[in-house]
Amino acid sequence: LRRESPVRFDENRNCWDVFPYEDVHRILKDPKMFSSARGAAANQNLLFMDPPKHHQLRDLVNKAFTPRAIQELAPRIRDIAEDLLSQAGAEMDVVHDFAAPLPVIVISELLGVPSSDRHHFKQWSDVLVESAEDLSDEAFEQIMQKRMKTVGELTDYFQGILKERASEPKDDLVSALMQAEIEGEKLSEQEIVNFCILLLAAGNETTTNLITNSFRILTEQPQLQVELAQDPGVIPTFIEEVLRYYPPIVSIGRVASEDVQIGGSLIRKGDQVITWVGAANRDESKFTDPDAFHKLRKPNPHMSFGFGIHFCLGAPLARLEGHIAIETLLQFCHDIKLVPGREIVPIQSSFVFGLKNYPV
Ligand code: HEM
Repeated sequence: LRRESPVRFDENRNCWDVFPYEDVHRILKDPKMFSSARGAAANQNLLFMDPPKHHQLRDLVNKAFTPRAIQELAPRIRDIAEDLLSQAGAEMDVVHDFAAPLPVIVISELLGVPSSDRHHFKQWSDVLVESAEDLSDEAFEQIMQKRMKTVGELTDYFQGILKERASEPKDDLVSALMQAEIEGEKLSEQEIVNFCILLLAAGNETTTNLITNSFRILTEQPQLQVELAQDPGVIPTFIEEVLRYYPPIVSIGRVASEDVQIGGSLIRKGDQVITWVGAANRDESKFTDPDAFHKLRKPNPHMSFGFGIHFCLGAPLARLEGHIAIETLLQFCHDIKLVPGREIVPIQSSFVFGLKNYPV
């Protein structure tokens, strides 16, 4: 598609698809021409905001979400990873036993929600990222109804947490968000609740897929297990290459704010544009030998965390979790193999890329 129809209009989905690296990059770096604004005002969150509102909110949440604050989580993330692996037997399902619980536990601890509520978090975040099995209006409607119900439950839940923190602040992200201010402006209760919901939706399945996709490449190319165990210093570049090669998010949507030319096609104001990060990450004009996995690839300007003003806020956390997950795994396990004869079920989605199960 990148070669044959680099920029095309899909009548069935009523949107543009953009595949080449340079075009995807151009779209993501131009929020004026390509807007992120979608959805009802009540569900407004960072992802669906344009400047200047986006700058204000992002500056505020950045204060509570600094790379240094994230780095301090490393020892705790290691404990969680070790706990999960020590509970698993000689055979485990990577997704169920390790890659799914790890980010959910980390996010709930970061937010400061009671540990007894964690199993609800997984169910809620699964509904938030679920996509329709087919493109019919009924399937879409069903998904939207489930999502609205979940957002309602989550709103009630976080409003309760906010009330508790208002009378008794703690050393957690919710309390930090309630206190953060810029030029005397604080976040409203609705903004904090929306942000907490966004963290669940944006941070859980993506990180689960990063860890699962890392396992996948380690079993597809088993010599990597030996090489990384011997030289753990290369794990960060390995993780970047997993992000490029098997991106947890393969596509990012925008809406054209004006008529604009991309790759020789005229995109009209108001048209939906889907940028295919998964295709851009394999563009031979940007990456040498793009279909090969090189654990030491450098530079590696993949766009799996997006690009520009919406660049993933949680990237330092996702990288840290991915790093610790693989490092701990290689300390605990050797010669990891896929269990033969089991069906591996891919996630059906045009947005995320991962597996529903991975028995090893
Ligand atoms: C934004 C990917 C993990 C929070 C984004 C975007 C991408 C992305 C592609 C940009 C979307 C756009 O431009 O419209 C990923 C991947 C992850 C990951 C691949 C894991 C490997 C996380 C985590 C968190 C998080 C762990 C938080 C706990 C966010 C937030 C935004 C965002 C809040 C919105 C930023 C903004 O609009 O300014 N992520 N993400 N993400 N991500 Fe992540």
